Amino acid sequence: MINRRVAVPLAGILAGSSVLLVNPAAASSQALSAPPQAPPGTLAPASQTPPQPPRAEKKPVAEGYGGAVSTVDLDASKAALGVLRRGGNAIDAAVAAAATLGVTEPYSAGLAGGGFIVYYDARRKKVHTIDGRETAPRAMTSTSLEGIPFEEAVTSGLSAGIPGSVAQWELALRRFGTLSLRQALRPAVEVASKGFTVDKTFHDQTAANAARFKDFTSTARLYLPGGAPPPVGSTFRNPELAETYRTLGRRGGDWLYRGPLGAEIVATVKKPPVTPGSTRNVRPGLMETSDLRAYRALERPPTKMTYKGMDVYGMEPPSSGGTTVGEALNILEALPEVGQHEYLEASRLAFADRGKYVGDIPGVPVGELLSDGFAKERACLIGERAMPHPAAPGTPDGTYGPCPVTPSAQTTEAAPEGPETTHLVVTDRWGNVVAYNITIESTGGNGIVVPGRGFLLNNEMTDFTLGPAPGDPNLPGPGKRPRSSMAPTIVLSDGKPLLALGSPGGSTIITTVLQILVNRWDLGMSLPEALAAPRATQRNTAQTQAEQAYLDRYGAELTGRGHSLVLNPEIGAATAVEFLSRGRLQAVAEPTRRGGGSALVVSERR
Ligand code: GLY
Repeated sequence: MINRRVAVPLAGILAGSSVLLVNPAAASSQALSAPPQAPPGTLAPASQTPPQPPRAEKKPVAEGYGGAVSTVDLDASKAALGVLRRGGNAIDAAVAAAATLGVTEPYSAGLAGGGFIVYYDARRKKVHTIDGRETAPRAMTSTSLEGIPFEEAVTSGLSAGIPGSVAQWELALRRFGTLSLRQALRPAVEVASKGFTVDKTFHDQTAANAARFKDFTSTARLYLPGGAPPPVGSTFRNPELAETYRTLGRRGGDWLYRGPLGAEIVATVKKPPVTPGSTRNVRPGLMETSDLRAYRALERPPTKMTYKGMDVYGMEPPSSGGTTVGEALNILEALPEVGQHEYLEASRLAFADRGKYVGDIPGVPVGELLSDGFAKERACLIGERAMPHPAAPGTPDGTYGPCPVTPSAQTTEAAPEGPETTHLVVTDRWGNVVAYNITIESTGGNGIVVPGRGFLLNNEMTDFTLGPAPGDPNLPGPGKRPRSSMAPTIVLSDGKPLLALGSPGGSTIITTVLQILVNRWDLGMSLPEALAAPRATQRNTAQTQAEQAYLDRYGAELTGRGHSLVLNPEIGAATAVEFLSRGRLQAVAEPTRRGGGSALVVSERR
């Protein structure tokens, strides 16, 4: 048996690295605690160069052997691939990619955010999960967000949760990795120092956020250099983030959770650096350094359900990903046939139950939500026509009767959510697999860069139900984790990895993962077809949102069955890997959504 942890000596990993050790002198000599400072409003540290030709290597599908990666971004995929090629394992590569996404996809990911890892450990043949979800400050109560206009809550110190990503990276590397945090951060340091080419997605996301970014001196200085979003094709550097990562690598997570970086985060949350003259009402936050000290990333058991003989593993609460994807699959399995109508109706019902039962509270009925008995009872409600809106939640109490079922009177509706967050998958030569969702919540987080440190804060507290909403399982509370929709998913068949996947997109994450699984396993599509296919999302809302191509293909049929459809121009940005026969891997990213993703394999030949 190969010992994954020592299969390649660490010295080999470092010596073989043209990426990891680009500037070792700088890494050791520049990592002083004070970041380079410039007065607000002076020339941005993020510099630009003339447009470059587009890079050709970004491909949505790659097939081969020895490991694979798929992310939304070429630099992040390359960071992971470099780690794999130098002998690192899937966890090492996933942390390297996540940190790199914090540079190139900084409006979706970053060290001040959080996320969920689902990990298949090939040696132990076991699925683990690591919860790096942000927590609420201990001063936050069920009414702290009540009555605040949503947009005002988003761009505030109040919405910032205690960051989870760094603790999650350290726990993941310590439990399952072979690299130190410092080593895993090196590819990201290099990309932040040397810069990356601004693509349309980065440009457009910056432009969409420009009105609020300009209201914070630190954010405007970094992301609006010269007062405007960096042009497509220019090179964007973030030397302050490179320095932050270097120091983090040297000093470890304690620098954030017990040290000066944490103190700076708390100071920024309590007194956001509002641009003089801004009229924005920026509410200060409740975070204290004691909240940072109390933060822990947590190992949790995965959710598990069986679909068509395959074992589907996901994330348990505080994410609703595992229970909601799993319940919908179980409902579908209880139906005589599965098409678009059934997909939408199963999702509608699962979202009704998510809203009533799932949150970071004791006693979430995970087992019953994922039980066949409950699914059969819920499936009884699906008829020829779309059911009346909203669907009522069921009663997952272990006592399930025959059809027909009378729905309870209580109703619930999913809150609107945006296209935020990111997802990556990695597998290595030993067969370990990572599905990893990362987020800072809204695209652009709370809009506030920690001065001189090069990263945005999250606004994860707006994933709570703001209230008033008596009895809602997702009201805020001291130390509580907001309910997530992130659904990193690993499917095993006969105990061996078959598929790993996930997506960004707020609560549409759940429907995107579900739809890809339905496309793949019920509708007979290949994995690239399953990702590329047009999407629709039904989250117990009055209207089903759908992409134009979906409306074109299924609109008339579904409208004829009572569905009300409305355009959503783009849903999700999935990444996935499938394990084909005889060790062959197929890494898949989006061909076009979010500008197209990047799939890479360690070797195209065996
Ligand atoms: N912030 C997105 C999610 O957790 O679902």
